[in-house]
Amino acid sequence: MSDEVEEVRNDLAQLVRLALAEQTEDVRLFVARLVRKYRNAAPELAEQMDLYLRAKTPRSGPPLRKVSRPPVIDQPAFPVDDESRLSLLKVFKDEPNCEQPLLAHDLEESLIQLIQERRQAERLTSLGLHPTRSAIFVGQPGVGKTLTARWLAAQLRVPLYVLDLTAVMSSLLGRSGSNLRTALDFAKRTPCVLLLDEIDAIAKRRSDDTDIGELKRLVTVILQEVDEWPATGLLLAATNHPELIDPALWRRFDLVVKFESPDLPAVKQAIKRFLGPDYALFGRWIDILAFAFNGESFSDIERDIRRFRRALALGSASDADLIEEFIKSRTLSLDRQARIDLAVLLVKQTRLSQHTVSDITGVSRDTIRKYSTEQQPAPKKSIKKPIKKPIKRS
Ligand SMILES: Nc1ncnc2c1ncn2[C@@H]1O[C@H](COP(=O)(O)OP(=O)(O)OP(=O)(O)O)[C@@H](O)[C@H]1O
Ligand SMILES: [Mg+2]
Repeated sequence: MSDEVEEVRNDLAQLVRLALAEQTEDVRLFVARLVRKYRNAAPELAEQMDLYLRAKTPRSGPPLRKVSRPPVIDQPAFPVDDESRLSLLKVFKDEPNCEQPLLAHDLEESLIQLIQERRQAERLTSLGLHPTRSAIFVGQPGVGKTLTARWLAAQLRVPLYVLDLTAVMSSLLGRSGSNLRTALDFAKRTPCVLLLDEIDAIAKRRSDDTDIGELKRLVTVILQEVDEWPATGLLLAATNHPELIDPALWRRFDLVVKFESPDLPAVKQAIKRFLGPDYALFGRWIDILAFAFNGESFSDIERDIRRFRRALALGSASDADLIEEFIKSRTLSLDRQARIDLAVLLVKQTRLSQHTVSDITGVSRDTIRKYSTEQQPAPKKSIKKPIKKPIKRS
């Protein structure tokens, strides 16, 4: 607070000095700067000063437009929002030995190459090549985009800074440009991986906003940065909505990394990983859990598994109770064939009676009997395709 008062005093003194020296053009320049400076902290004051500025057309000197261009701020300190003083970047510093996310094979390959390129940058440079400087991560929510960015940064032994563009956009529009620039400048000068999260936020706003000009400037800032990002850093972007990304921006990234939603083997792997030591107990349900979780994101699977483990730790339910209740809720989202497949699987792989299975899945015992004898094993195709509907879980 006292720093702010001190600064206001300095501004006042400077203004008086310029005014008494009748350096009118300098006064105008200075006031224009004050308008920008106080726009966030004291919007009414800024507006008032702006009105004074505009009330009298300048007699000579540079036009106002030029004056109101933002000053180049050299700010090596950690970037914060002018008004809220909140940090613009989220910082992650993971250990290099942190667990590797579950990744599809080709995705893993391309990330490992990316890491190798950095480790052997000199070799590339000697051949006139440079390592991948930028990549865009595309995928549904909860498939590991942010987690992978953290892991990558840890492998490269630098921090990950995450700039949430939704947050930047929700700050006053006039300010989001300078916030973005401040954050980018900082990241460029620090060894790090920078992740522009939800990069589609800008595109989304573009359709419903009044200040198109400001948004265009934001896009331009990002376009330039992707082009000019130093090879010493790594610029990542993530989106759930690739279709909203400006094609001009899209093609500027050196690498496009697609995160698919997990397939059945990946779902199984995820269940195993998230169960940790409790796999010993839940392991016998793995096929059934995999079936029920098929089509879900890693983070949804993890959330449910955590819930099981907590309930188990509290002794509030047995593993069989938990699974039964869970399957019951999940069957609501399955189509008839998938429900039958699940019932057959339950009968085959558990000690549950046909009666109980019928209860859980809503498939009649006759149908279960018929399919259990007719089909073995349960058809894989329909297992892979439960209806993907958002399910309300209890
Ligand atoms: N591939 C994965 N391997 C292991 N765990 C994962 C994976 N993907 C997601 N998870 C789990 O889900 C959590 C959320 O994932 P993450 O934040 O990386 O998703 P995201 O793709 O960035 O989603 P959003 O688009 O919503 O930001 C992770 O912290 C992790 O616990
Ligand atoms: Mg994310």
